[in-house]
Amino acid sequence: MMAKYGFFPEKLNITLTCASGVEKALKSELTRLGYGDAPAINGALTIEGSPLDVARLNVNLRTADRVYIRVAQFTALTFDELFDGVKSIKWEEFFPVDAKVLVNGKCVKSKLFAISACQSIVKKAISDRLCRVYKTNRLSESGAEYGLEFSIFKDEVTLYINTSGAGLHKRGYRDLVGIAPIKETLASALLLFSDFYKEKPFADPFCGSGTIAIEAARIALNIAGGVNRTFAFNRWNNFDKKYFDLAFSEAKDKEDRNRKLEFFASDIDPKAVKLAKRHAERAGVADKIRFETQSVKNFKSDLSNGTIVTNPPYGERVYDIKEAEICYKWLGEAYKKLDGWSAFVITSAKSFEKHFGQKCDRERKLYNSNRECKYYYYYGKRRTEND
Ligand SMILES: C[S@@+](CC[C@H](N)C(=O)[O-])C[C@H]1O[C@@H](n2cnc3c(N)ncnc32)[C@H](O)[C@@H]1O
Repeated sequence: MMAKYGFFPEKLNITLTCASGVEKALKSELTRLGYGDAPAINGALTIEGSPLDVARLNVNLRTADRVYIRVAQFTALTFDELFDGVKSIKWEEFFPVDAKVLVNGKCVKSKLFAISACQSIVKKAISDRLCRVYKTNRLSESGAEYGLEFSIFKDEVTLYINTSGAGLHKRGYRDLVGIAPIKETLASALLLFSDFYKEKPFADPFCGSGTIAIEAARIALNIAGGVNRTFAFNRWNNFDKKYFDLAFSEAKDKEDRNRKLEFFASDIDPKAVKLAKRHAERAGVADKIRFETQSVKNFKSDLSNGTIVTNPPYGERVYDIKEAEICYKWLGEAYKKLDGWSAFVITSAKSFEKHFGQKCDRERKLYNSNRECKYYYYYGKRRTEND
């Protein structure tokens, strides 16, 4: 039964988180979706919006980790201030009487530093508030789960509701794990930072489980990031279903699945290629990418002005650094023979440029699963007679 209270307010502060270094790609996605400029604060962007925007952002964004509703912000130096501050918030606008509220959080550079004590206080304050408003002594918590996250940073408490549930990198198409796969959100960011374009050839010669090539094809065909999954808010009775239905159908209407692409993905490992094909099938782009089992040593293309975006071995886990450096050398040699192609390569190996054989035009610091990496940019130049 729907509670008397518990419908989401129309005006919300929506906070989008992303991996460190990816903020610029997320900002440009937001601009493209019509949300204007959003300031980046501590690796998160906050905009004003409605529940429909929450649905649209979850469905469309490719580089965000999660979409949160930022409920409140206040200062707390003591447990009492934390309790009173949390209890004063109108939680009934977000949580119905049967909500199962799961509280998690972090404390950084603050007087309140005991995370589990803060967690219990936040939970108790929400429960007290809901019991009072819903006139009950006990909350059944038998309904949908709501993830509530608190951050106490320099004594400033911020409370967020996680509307995405599982991170948005979980697109729904990658069901089996390959060797050192890159997150779909980072793969998309690499593509959005590159000069890759739907009308140009594209290749990933270290495709592994296919993530970068699949994300590239989905960007080129305008297939939104979240159309193959559901989100936490889909399970909330007090989040009107019409918002998701509208966001989903808008996204489906924009798809351009008939576009022809010149996209290639290859890997030396036949098992990886098989996995990449499986994922491409599940992502709806299997007929748009040509897969091949081959070493990067043999990578070539008759096409001009394409873009390589790739994530070769780093020489840390499966391959040692010497093996990784041979891969960079082969990639560099293959790249030199291409006509006007650009190459964008992410790796944590400091010796990359030396073995690739060229200084990059630009580089950007990024993190791949908390490992500090550089993303090397090589802009394509048409070859001359003397090359
Ligand atoms: C870091 S993984 C790529 C992961 C991929 N981005 C994904 O999301 O699954 C590096 C890949 O390079 C492949 N590889 C190693 N040596 C290679 C070579 N000489 N030529 C082509 N691929 C190679 C490995 O089989 C592995 O799949």
